[in-house]
Amino acid sequence: MKVCVIGGGGYVGLVTGLGLAELGHQVTNVDVNTDRIRQLGEGTAPIYEENLAPLLKRHGDSQAIKFTTEINEGMEDCVVVFVAVGTPSRADGKPDLSQVIQVAEDLGHTLSSYTVIVIKSTVPVGTVELFLSILARTHTEGVEFDIVSNPEFLREGNAVYDFFHPDRIVIGTNSERASLVMDELYAPLLQTTPNLPVIRTSVPSAQLIKYASNAFLATRVSFINEIASLCERVGADINEVTEGMGPDPRIGHAYLTAGLGFGGPCLEKDLMALISIAESHAYEPYLLRSVLERNERQVGEVIAKVKAQTGDVLYQRIITVYGLAFKPGTSDVRNSLSLKVIDRLQSEGASVRAHDPFALAEAALVTSNVELFDDPYAAAENADSALILTAWPEYLKLDFARIRVTMTEPRIVDACNLLSAHPHLAEGFAYNGFGTPTAN
Ligand code: NAI
Repeated sequence: MKVCVIGGGGYVGLVTGLGLAELGHQVTNVDVNTDRIRQLGEGTAPIYEENLAPLLKRHGDSQAIKFTTEINEGMEDCVVVFVAVGTPSRADGKPDLSQVIQVAEDLGHTLSSYTVIVIKSTVPVGTVELFLSILARTHTEGVEFDIVSNPEFLREGNAVYDFFHPDRIVIGTNSERASLVMDELYAPLLQTTPNLPVIRTSVPSAQLIKYASNAFLATRVSFINEIASLCERVGADINEVTEGMGPDPRIGHAYLTAGLGFGGPCLEKDLMALISIAESHAYEPYLLRSVLERNERQVGEVIAKVKAQTGDVLYQRIITVYGLAFKPGTSDVRNSLSLKVIDRLQSEGASVRAHDPFALAEAALVTSNVELFDDPYAAAENADSALILTAWPEYLKLDFARIRVTMTEPRIVDACNLLSAHPHLAEGFAYNGFGTPTAN
């Protein structure tokens, strides 16, 4: 099937395009980011995701996927067009739909035969109506199309795996014709995963499934951070508590790790969007608001732990940060809580040095006065405190004894509780995790 992916240089668009090429479709990824399109055309992945580079090599070389900045090129003979552009938060927390609106305007001029427009971007209820109203003004009369809401659930850090092993596919549409086209599109995936649930819903339900899923995950994170804070006060250990909670099939282990809270490009943004959706329908979302507020406290908790170690003074302290990506497995630093911690450290006069195995290049674009190191040992030299802010498994392989002797003061604040299961690694350090007996 001939498929076009708009926003095809972004995380979701790139993984979607490459995944569809692997399923046997002929794909063109369109993006306005000329640098990314040039890099992709040269066979270089602009982001780090496991197994992305080999997919790009295979399908780029065979021309099963092409990259262009020209929407007309992508839309030629196209049967399905995915919209995977960004929907970031505005200052007021509402989703900024300007990229989606631009695509609607661009698409109107390019539709020439029946096309299924698939909204993969996370968008609020009402966006399809907005899209339709724009298309109604711009598209050629008589050319038919349908709109489908097909929300994306991939996890950055596992994005390629998730494309080929989704938990479910949600297809929100009231068009039988579009539904059949979607079945054909995903048929190769359904053949390899016969029990894969395909959930067919209305458009608003599909949109709410996405927001509700992310809000639920965010709720688990804030919930467990609340319990971790309680653990610190009552002498319990959050690791033992979650070990005891997780086996209950009604609960499970996922998203029950205490730490820095939820950052990254999606959970906070989508939670804020859901709050704004509730408000715009005159509903007060008490629970959702608390989830957000609880999360916003977490960066302060890290700073308090660092200060407790450094005698309440951060001015001219050298602090080493391990981990800049918003989670392990990705180079993405968008809305990374690690960067928020760095901001706070710098605002109190600390001098920050940082290491990350994959995110240095992306971090360099959005940080200032942070010394970035690709050598984790050099990053720790003369430091007054080291912070683990991304749970990269690579950090468990570090020689902490070597780090300890190069630091001015051997102190660790482990916001991920990464070392808590390996206490020998923290030997000789003043060590503070979250929600554990050594947290304070
Ligand atoms: P992104 O910012 O990485 O990618 C968006 C891409 O769209 C960019 O490369 C941008 O240059 C391009 N773009 C913007 N306007 C365009 C236009 N008019 N024509 C062509 N290209 C255009 O964003 P990301 O992370 O891929 O997210 C996309 C959507 O998917 C968002 O709505 C997000 O909430 C949702 N989502 C993201 C997930 C993630 O883990 N990143 C997971 C699930 C959903």
